[in-house]
Amino acid sequence: MKWMKSVISFALFIGLVIASWDTRFFAATLTASAQDGTKMPDVVKLAKENKLGPVTFNHTHHTTKNYSLEGSAPIACIECHHTAQPAAELAKHPPLKTAYPADRTTTLTAELFQQDAKAAGAAACSNCHVRVGETPKLLPEIPQIKHEGSAAILTMTNQLAFHRTCAGCHDAVLKSRPDAKAPGQQKCAACHKK
Ligand code: HEC
Ligand code: HEC
Ligand code: HEC
Ligand code: HEC
Repeated sequence: MKWMKSVISFALFIGLVIASWDTRFFAATLTASAQDGTKMPDVVKLAKENKLGPVTFNHTHHTTKNYSLEGSAPIACIECHHTAQPAAELAKHPPLKTAYPADRTTTLTAELFQQDAKAAGAAACSNCHVRVGETPKLLPEIPQIKHEGSAAILTMTNQLAFHRTCAGCHDAVLKSRPDAKAPGQQKCAACHKK
């Protein structure tokens, strides 16, 4: 029964290939370290030095569960990573205008990220939105915005940028779906936990 032996060893071989491919796959997609931007984080600790306590942000929940405003789909990458799209696209959504890298032609999606994580260019917010008095890594100064019809110039520190993106969506979600478990602007302790 020589053929049977080779069928079995072939099956074992394939099993091994799949198993090792699997591990690499999971290692590449699920590990939490993401310092070079080539891995999607699973859980991120934000506001680590805040007196109110750090914020535990579950990146996986927000990108795979139906956490969109309507509750019908995962949130698009660029709703948070707003610079990860071409400038021509941003021009349709003022006050946004800055693409990073400036000459990029692609829009960040889960598929693009899987194809070529480095080229997908998902820069961490903290490279640009920093505390007053700090200089961002990727910009000459902390970004400022002015909304149409308002005279106010807003300096997008880490605090303002995150509160607008995170709590801004949560407030809107709670308006249409009051029982959603999304911490709204005033629920400080639901995000900042000691
Ligand atoms: C709800 C908001 C949100 C969505 C949606 C989102 N991200 Fe993120 N992402 C973040 C935050 C916040 C961080 C951590 C930023 C920081 O530390 O300053 C992050 C970090 C990352 C990093 C690590 C960057 C680095 O250099 O450390 C990658 C890569 C990334 N996201 C990819 C993606 C991709 C791909 C998608 C879409 C499939 C996506 N993100 C969707 C908020 C989001
Ligand atoms: C939806 C979650 C969420 C809610 C609700 C929230 N925060 Fe935050 N807060 C964050 C995140 C995320 C950051 C940015 C952290 C960073 O820079 O890493 C932040 C930053 C801050 C900072 C600046 C911290 C620093 O180290 O620079 C302060 C102060 C702060 N929040 C206070 C509050 C207060 C007060 C409330 C309630 C009125 C509140 N937050 C509600 C998520 C939240
Ligand atoms: C490469 C630098 C860079 C990165 C990375 C970046 N931002 Fe920004 N952000 C800016 C600039 C610059 C502006 C001002 C508007 C513009 O020029 O597009 C801005 C504006 C904003 C605004 C104000 C938008 C409005 O309509 O009021 C929010 C909120 C914000 N960013 C949140 C985030 C979050 C959250 C992340 C990470 C998921 C992030 N940003 C990553 C540079 C950056
Ligand atoms: C576009 C909408 C949207 C954005 C942007 C968003 N969230 Fe959420 N978030 C949700 C929804 C929806 C839920 C709750 C879903 C449910 O009902 O369970 C949620 C839940 C949460 C929870 C509860 C725990 C969990 O993982 O479900 C925390 C904490 C949280 N978000 C923090 C953040 C932080 C911090 C940011 C910004 C970096 C952020 N969110 C950005 C929609 C959003």
